[in-house]
Amino acid sequence: MNILAIESSCDETAAAVVRDGREVLSNEVLSQADMHAIYGGVVPEIASRNHIKVISRLADRAVSEAGLQKRDLDAVAVTAAPGLIGALLVGVNFAKGAALALGVPLIPVHHVRGHIAANYIAFPELEPPFVCLAISGGNTCIVDVRGYTDMSIIGATHDDAAGECFDKAARVLGLPYPGGLPLQMLARGGDDRAFDLPHARIAGRPYDMSFSGLKTAVVNIVHNAQQKGEELDRAGLAASFQRTVSETLVPRTMDALRDLGYDTVVVAGGVAANERVRGDFAAACARSGARLFVPPLRLCGDNAAMIGCQGYYEFLAGARAGSDLNAYATMEIDDLTF
Ligand code: KG4
Repeated sequence: MNILAIESSCDETAAAVVRDGREVLSNEVLSQADMHAIYGGVVPEIASRNHIKVISRLADRAVSEAGLQKRDLDAVAVTAAPGLIGALLVGVNFAKGAALALGVPLIPVHHVRGHIAANYIAFPELEPPFVCLAISGGNTCIVDVRGYTDMSIIGATHDDAAGECFDKAARVLGLPYPGGLPLQMLARGGDDRAFDLPHARIAGRPYDMSFSGLKTAVVNIVHNAQQKGEELDRAGLAASFQRTVSETLVPRTMDALRDLGYDTVVVAGGVAANERVRGDFAAACARSGARLFVPPLRLCGDNAAMIGCQGYYEFLAGARAGSDLNAYATMEIDDLTF
């Protein structure tokens, strides 16, 4: 079964063709990051306008790169939630038109479920059940993945997502958007014990997280140094920040693994690219004898192959959308209401 997949939830326009869930025939991604960098973050209207400009061409290219004709496509899968609403609507409307023109089913896909599925593409042996930490620019949650389409959130951030926190910390440190990778680079030369930053705990919710206090602490340290005219140990602050984020994410995920009684940890989303988080997970899983799956860097960020992969499993589970499919800015991973 060949699925044409479309992803446009933020500032990447993406189209892919995926065969039977796990074989990626093509995976075209066009990032707009440069266009948003001058504003220090994604400007929703600019994102939507650029999606609409390139999406048809990108989808055409995905089909030809796959070595297929349009008549070889069996379904269209599209990210319909969560994300920037205007950006999502471009992909959803394009996918509706494509499914109608091709006379094939339309499959709505949850973006974060897609991030989890990136691991199925990279690791043919991976199957549920497992515990997954999904960490991206807009979402941060620990998920009990019982089956390909059967999952529930057992912990989540109460405020900022981990990626958002990286981007804001990077911004105040004078680094370009998106800030995760530049902050990681700066942290390489720093002492990760240079600053003692706050670790938030949510009473009675052992797997939940909060990043707003950490973000504010970094902002205050930078502003205080500026006001006093003191030179700031930027690399030390970046390294300490990264350590604190990792110390928030890794132990909670490992506790969830133990409590669920699984033997497999999966990490997904843009922040899964972070070398500190990857290293700390590798060490924690080695200590506890758990299997660890983290996608290769090319599949960590937003792409459409992961949507085609998850779309296949959603299709097998019976998911179909009609011509009235809408896009949703927010939706829980375990409460799909397309
Ligand atoms: O998954 P993604 O591409 O988009 C969403 O679905 O949100 O994630 C983007 C986020 C950004 O916040 C970016 O700064 C972060 O992932 N990111 C990183 C790294 N690479 C990307 N954060 C930390 N370390 C990295 N190496």
